[in-house]
Amino acid sequence: MWFSGVRLHARTTVLRLDDGNLLIHSPAPPSEGLVEALKALGPVRWLVVPNCFHHLGTPAAAARFPEAKVVAPKSALARNNDLKLHLDLHDAEFGEQLPEFEALPLDGVPFLDETVLFHRPTQTLLGADLVMEASARDHWTWRWAGRITGCYEQVRLPPDVRKKISEKTAAARSIKAMLERPAQRLIVAHAEIIEAGWRERLTEAWRREGVEV
Ligand SMILES: [Fe+2]
Repeated sequence: MWFSGVRLHARTTVLRLDDGNLLIHSPAPPSEGLVEALKALGPVRWLVVPNCFHHLGTPAAAARFPEAKVVAPKSALARNNDLKLHLDLHDAEFGEQLPEFEALPLDGVPFLDETVLFHRPTQTLLGADLVMEASARDHWTWRWAGRITGCYEQVRLPPDVRKKISEKTAAARSIKAMLERPAQRLIVAHAEIIEAGWRERLTEAWRREGVEV
Protein backbone atom coordinates (compact mmCIF):
# COMPACT_ATOMS: atom_id res chain seq x y z
CA MET A 1 0.00 0.00 0.00
CA TRP A 2 0.98 3.65 -0.51
CA PHE A 3 0.57 5.92 2.51
CA SER A 4 1.72 9.55 2.60
CA GLY A 5 4.11 8.99 -0.30
CA VAL A 6 5.64 5.89 1.28
CA ARG A 7 5.22 2.33 0.07
CA LEU A 8 4.59 -0.05 2.97
CA HIS A 9 3.91 -3.74 3.32
CA ALA A 10 0.59 -4.33 5.05
CA ARG A 11 0.33 -7.76 6.61
CA THR A 12 -2.72 -10.00 6.49
CA THR A 13 -2.70 -12.92 8.95
CA VAL A 14 -4.67 -16.13 8.46
CA LEU A 15 -5.57 -18.24 11.49
CA ARG A 16 -7.08 -21.68 11.53
CA LEU A 17 -9.58 -21.89 14.35
CA ASP A 18 -10.20 -24.89 16.58
CA ASP A 19 -13.29 -25.75 14.50
CA GLY A 20 -11.26 -25.78 11.26
CA ASN A 21 -12.65 -22.50 9.94
CA LEU A 22 -10.41 -19.58 9.02
CA LEU A 23 -10.17 -16.11 10.50
CA ILE A 24 -8.54 -13.43 8.37
CA HIS A 25 -6.98 -10.62 10.38
CA SER A 26 -6.62 -7.27 8.57
CA PRO A 27 -7.81 -8.65 5.20
CA ALA A 28 -5.97 -7.62 2.06
CA PRO A 29 -7.99 -6.94 -1.11
CA PRO A 30 -8.50 -10.52 -2.31
CA SER A 31 -6.77 -11.34 -5.58
CA GLU A 32 -7.84 -14.51 -7.41
CA GLY A 33 -4.66 -16.20 -6.22
CA LEU A 34 -5.33 -15.28 -2.59
CA VAL A 35 -8.96 -16.47 -2.78
CA GLU A 36 -7.87 -19.81 -4.23
CA ALA A 37 -5.11 -20.21 -1.64
CA LEU A 38 -7.56 -19.48 1.20
CA LYS A 39 -10.19 -21.87 -0.16
CA ALA A 40 -7.56 -24.60 -0.15
CA LEU A 41 -6.95 -23.96 3.56
CA GLY A 42 -10.55 -24.02 4.71
CA PRO A 43 -13.80 -22.04 4.93
CA VAL A 44 -13.30 -18.33 5.70
CA ARG A 45 -15.76 -17.52 8.50
CA TRP A 46 -14.35 -14.38 10.12
CA LEU A 47 -12.86 -11.13 8.83
CA VAL A 48 -11.31 -8.92 11.51
CA VAL A 49 -10.64 -5.19 11.10
CA PRO A 50 -8.22 -4.48 13.97
CA ASN A 51 -8.55 -0.68 14.15
CA CYS A 52 -10.25 2.21 12.37
CA PHE A 53 -7.63 2.34 9.58
CA HIS A 54 -7.13 -1.27 8.47
CA HIS A 55 -10.51 -1.63 6.76
CA LEU A 56 -9.56 -1.05 3.12
CA GLY A 57 -9.58 -4.63 1.85
CA THR A 58 -12.47 -5.86 3.98
CA PRO A 59 -15.50 -4.92 1.81
CA ALA A 60 -13.95 -6.75 -1.17
CA ALA A 61 -13.03 -9.71 1.05
CA ALA A 62 -16.58 -9.79 2.45
CA ALA A 63 -17.95 -9.89 -1.11
CA ARG A 64 -15.73 -12.89 -1.93
CA PHE A 65 -16.52 -14.66 1.35
CA PRO A 66 -20.19 -13.78 1.96
CA GLU A 67 -20.55 -16.38 4.70
CA ALA A 68 -17.85 -14.66 6.80
CA LYS A 69 -18.76 -12.40 9.71
CA VAL A 70 -17.09 -8.99 9.76
CA VAL A 71 -15.73 -7.86 13.12
CA ALA A 72 -14.56 -4.26 13.40
CA PRO A 73 -14.62 -1.27 15.72
CA LYS A 74 -17.62 0.94 15.00
CA SER A 75 -15.18 3.82 14.37
CA ALA A 76 -14.14 2.10 11.12
CA LEU A 77 -17.69 2.42 9.76
CA ALA A 78 -17.41 6.21 9.66
CA ARG A 79 -14.35 5.86 7.45
CA ASN A 80 -15.69 3.31 4.99
CA ASN A 81 -19.27 3.37 3.69
CA ASP A 82 -18.82 -0.05 2.08
CA LEU A 83 -18.01 -1.75 5.38
CA LYS A 84 -20.83 -3.89 6.77
CA LEU A 85 -20.42 -4.86 10.41
CA HIS A 86 -21.70 -8.08 11.98
CA LEU A 87 -20.00 -7.72 15.34
CA ASP A 88 -18.36 -4.83 17.18
CA LEU A 89 -14.77 -5.70 18.06
CA HIS A 90 -15.35 -4.08 21.48
CA ASP A 91 -18.37 -6.30 22.18
CA ALA A 92 -17.92 -9.11 24.73
CA GLU A 93 -19.75 -11.34 22.26
CA PHE A 94 -16.54 -11.59 20.22
CA GLY A 95 -14.79 -13.43 23.06
CA GLU A 96 -17.88 -15.58 23.63
CA GLN A 97 -18.08 -16.66 20.00
CA LEU A 98 -14.30 -17.09 19.62
CA PRO A 99 -13.06 -18.25 23.03
CA GLU A 100 -9.58 -19.04 21.72
CA PHE A 101 -9.00 -15.27 21.53
CA GLU A 102 -8.70 -12.62 24.18
CA ALA A 103 -9.43 -9.08 22.98
CA LEU A 104 -7.06 -6.49 24.47
CA PRO A 105 -8.21 -2.96 23.65
CA LEU A 106 -5.55 -0.26 23.37
CA ASP A 107 -7.15 2.40 25.55
CA GLY A 108 -6.11 6.03 25.50
CA VAL A 109 -5.55 6.20 21.74
CA PRO A 110 -9.03 6.74 20.22
CA PHE A 111 -7.35 8.06 17.07
CA LEU A 112 -6.39 4.44 16.30
CA ASP A 113 -9.12 2.58 18.21
CA GLU A 114 -7.07 -0.61 18.00
CA THR A 115 -7.80 -3.90 19.71
CA VAL A 116 -4.96 -6.42 19.93
CA LEU A 117 -5.95 -10.09 19.91
CA PHE A 118 -4.18 -12.73 21.94
CA HIS A 119 -4.57 -16.08 20.19
CA ARG A 120 -4.12 -18.62 22.96
CA PRO A 121 -3.40 -21.80 20.90
CA THR A 122 -0.41 -20.21 19.10
CA GLN A 123 0.54 -17.82 21.92
CA THR A 124 0.48 -14.94 19.48
CA LEU A 125 -0.44 -11.28 19.91
CA LEU A 126 -2.00 -9.83 16.79
CA GLY A 127 -2.13 -6.09 16.23
CA ALA A 128 -1.89 -3.67 13.32
CA ASP A 129 -0.48 -0.20 14.05
CA LEU A 130 0.52 -0.78 17.68
CA VAL A 131 4.16 -0.48 16.56
CA MET A 132 5.98 -0.64 13.22
CA GLU A 133 9.50 -1.17 11.84
CA ALA A 134 11.17 -0.67 8.47
CA SER A 135 13.78 -3.16 7.29
CA ALA A 136 16.12 -3.84 4.37
CA ARG A 137 13.31 -5.79 2.67
CA ASP A 138 11.13 -2.69 2.40
CA HIS A 139 10.65 -0.34 -0.56
CA TRP A 140 13.24 2.45 -0.73
CA THR A 141 10.62 5.12 0.13
CA TRP A 142 9.85 3.46 3.47
CA ARG A 143 13.52 2.66 4.19
CA TRP A 144 14.22 6.37 3.69
CA ALA A 145 11.21 7.58 5.70
CA GLY A 146 11.94 4.92 8.31
CA ARG A 147 15.42 6.37 8.91
CA ILE A 148 14.02 9.89 9.30
CA THR A 149 11.31 8.76 11.73
CA GLY A 150 13.53 6.40 13.74
CA CYS A 151 11.68 3.30 12.52
CA TYR A 152 14.53 1.75 10.52
CA GLU A 153 15.45 -1.55 12.17
CA GLN A 154 13.82 -0.22 15.31
CA VAL A 155 10.35 -0.93 16.66
CA ARG A 156 8.57 2.42 17.13
CA LEU A 157 5.08 3.85 17.19
CA PRO A 158 3.81 5.01 13.79
CA PRO A 159 4.74 8.72 13.52
CA ASP A 160 1.11 9.85 13.17
CA VAL A 161 0.11 7.87 16.28
CA ARG A 162 2.86 9.38 18.48
CA LYS A 163 1.08 12.75 18.57
CA LYS A 164 -2.35 11.22 19.17
CA ILE A 165 -1.99 9.51 22.55
CA SER A 166 -4.86 11.15 24.46
CA GLU A 167 -4.46 9.33 27.78
CA LYS A 168 -1.01 7.99 28.50
CA THR A 169 -1.98 6.28 31.77
CA ALA A 170 -4.75 4.35 30.04
CA ALA A 171 -2.41 3.41 27.19
CA ALA A 172 0.21 2.21 29.70
CA ARG A 173 -2.38 -0.03 31.39
CA SER A 174 -3.31 -1.55 28.04
CA ILE A 175 0.30 -2.19 27.01
CA LYS A 176 0.96 -3.80 30.41
CA ALA A 177 -1.96 -6.18 29.85
CA MET A 178 -0.40 -7.23 26.54
CA LEU A 179 3.02 -7.73 28.15
CA GLU A 180 1.48 -10.00 30.78
CA ARG A 181 0.10 -12.44 28.22
CA PRO A 182 2.20 -15.62 27.74
CA ALA A 183 2.91 -14.70 24.12
CA GLN A 184 5.81 -15.99 22.03
CA ARG A 185 5.49 -13.33 19.36
CA LEU A 186 3.89 -10.06 18.36
CA ILE A 187 2.55 -9.69 14.82
CA VAL A 188 1.73 -6.23 13.46
CA ALA A 189 0.92 -4.95 9.99
CA HIS A 190 4.05 -3.03 9.09
CA ALA A 191 7.00 -4.98 10.50
CA GLU A 192 8.56 -8.41 10.35
CA ILE A 193 7.17 -10.84 12.93
CA ILE A 194 8.59 -9.71 16.29
CA GLU A 195 9.72 -12.67 18.41
CA ALA A 196 13.04 -12.26 20.23
CA GLY A 197 12.69 -9.60 22.91
CA TRP A 198 9.20 -8.59 21.85
CA ARG A 199 8.32 -7.39 25.38
CA GLU A 200 11.37 -5.15 25.66
CA ARG A 201 10.89 -3.75 22.16
CA LEU A 202 7.19 -3.02 22.69
CA THR A 203 7.90 -1.42 26.08
CA GLU A 204 10.72 0.75 24.71
CA ALA A 205 8.62 1.96 21.76
CA TRP A 206 5.86 3.23 24.06
CA ARG A 207 8.23 4.62 26.71
CA ARG A 208 9.82 6.78 24.03
CA GLU A 209 6.48 8.54 23.67
CA GLY A 210 6.14 9.15 27.40
CA VAL A 211 3.91 6.16 28.14
CA GLU A 212 5.29 4.77 31.40
CA VAL A 213 4.83 1.07 30.94
FE1 LIG B 1 -1.32 0.52 9.34
